[in-house]
Amino acid sequence: MKDFSLEVRGCHKFDATGAISEPIYLSATYRHPAFRQSTGFDYGRVANPTRQVLEETIAALEHGSRAWAVSSGMAAIQLVLQLFKPGDHVLLSEDLYGGIVRLASIYERYGVYFEYVDTRDLAVIESRIRPETRGIFIETPSNPMMFVSDIRGIAKLAHANNALFIVDNTFLSPHFQRPLDLGADIIIHSGTKYLCGHNDVICGFLITKGGLTDIESQVELLAKSAGPTLSALDAWLMLRSIKTLGIRVERQSESALHIAHFLKTLPEVTDVYYVGLPEHPGHELHKSQAAGFGGMISFKVRTPAIARNVLEHLKFIIYAESLGGIETLLTYPLVQTHAEMPKELIERTGLDDYLLRLSVGIEDAEDIEQDLQQALASAAK
Ligand SMILES: Cc1ncc(COP(=O)(O)O)c(C=O)c1O
Repeated sequence: MKDFSLEVRGCHKFDATGAISEPIYLSATYRHPAFRQSTGFDYGRVANPTRQVLEETIAALEHGSRAWAVSSGMAAIQLVLQLFKPGDHVLLSEDLYGGIVRLASIYERYGVYFEYVDTRDLAVIESRIRPETRGIFIETPSNPMMFVSDIRGIAKLAHANNALFIVDNTFLSPHFQRPLDLGADIIIHSGTKYLCGHNDVICGFLITKGGLTDIESQVELLAKSAGPTLSALDAWLMLRSIKTLGIRVERQSESALHIAHFLKTLPEVTDVYYVGLPEHPGHELHKSQAAGFGGMISFKVRTPAIARNVLEHLKFIIYAESLGGIETLLTYPLVQTHAEMPKELIERTGLDDYLLRLSVGIEDAEDIEQDLQQALASAAK
């Protein structure tokens, strides 16, 4: 099946009723047909029929072998971090969602060492790999600076050094980018974002490429033991959301390109970071590994006061954290999504108090542009 078809149909199988919408199995536990026999479903923490269809669907969309649907993006990242042992060293993109830095600092208590590197530069990554490096974790484009890293190149480096290569594909979704096809081993999603698309489910995914049977058994053990698995109701909402993934993200991407060009014309705006702009340093690389630019734009304004004031002058765009939904949101990363980012990383990446992050929704681009124009002009007065 082609992309839109797979998103709409997923891995739905018709049952005896012919139901088109996936049934929601709320049962926490399941009757055994006979002593030591199972229907394949014994207890909801371990497996649930609705969640299973969602997991099969997301694995198919990412061209993966298996997937786990869990209760948040952070729960999925936690599963990844649990794969490492004391003494292991993990490289992380130095620009990435702030919650990951917070979680990594907790894992340092258990003896896993993390190092933040500029993953745009293969030579820098290579120079930081040590004999005990067991993982490389990237976001591309990254949150919020929109840095683009070379998925194919990093995969080669990771595999030459016996390290797992993990890509957080939240910003693009499998509709635009499939890192497993480019050499990644594991995909992470905050399903809360584009895959949900309606700001009404907190959800995460971990997807593995084929051939990683040992890793899959470990994830299976971790998921069933700790129980971060997604509820049946949320799994159903996600299945319903994924049906419209393609039409949502195509429209968001088209509007975002228009809005990025528009932002460049505004006197209060000094820099626009959008991978769809030809002058973005990662533009060509991005085009070589993704089929679309996505709906995320970051930009800087002339003064920190404008950045703060603009949030209070919005009339249409919503001042809120999160991204990927159908409503356009404006975020101030320094005090919201990246509030706990260490000062050193902030200085290295340029994530400062001049920076705003826009998640473009599916409303009319003209309404979004008019609001940005009036809010920025009022904020600068
Ligand atoms: C790129 C990225 N990865 C992971 C997460 C964490 O996901 P969640 O909020 O669903 O736990 C976020 C949240 O903003 C994110 O932006």
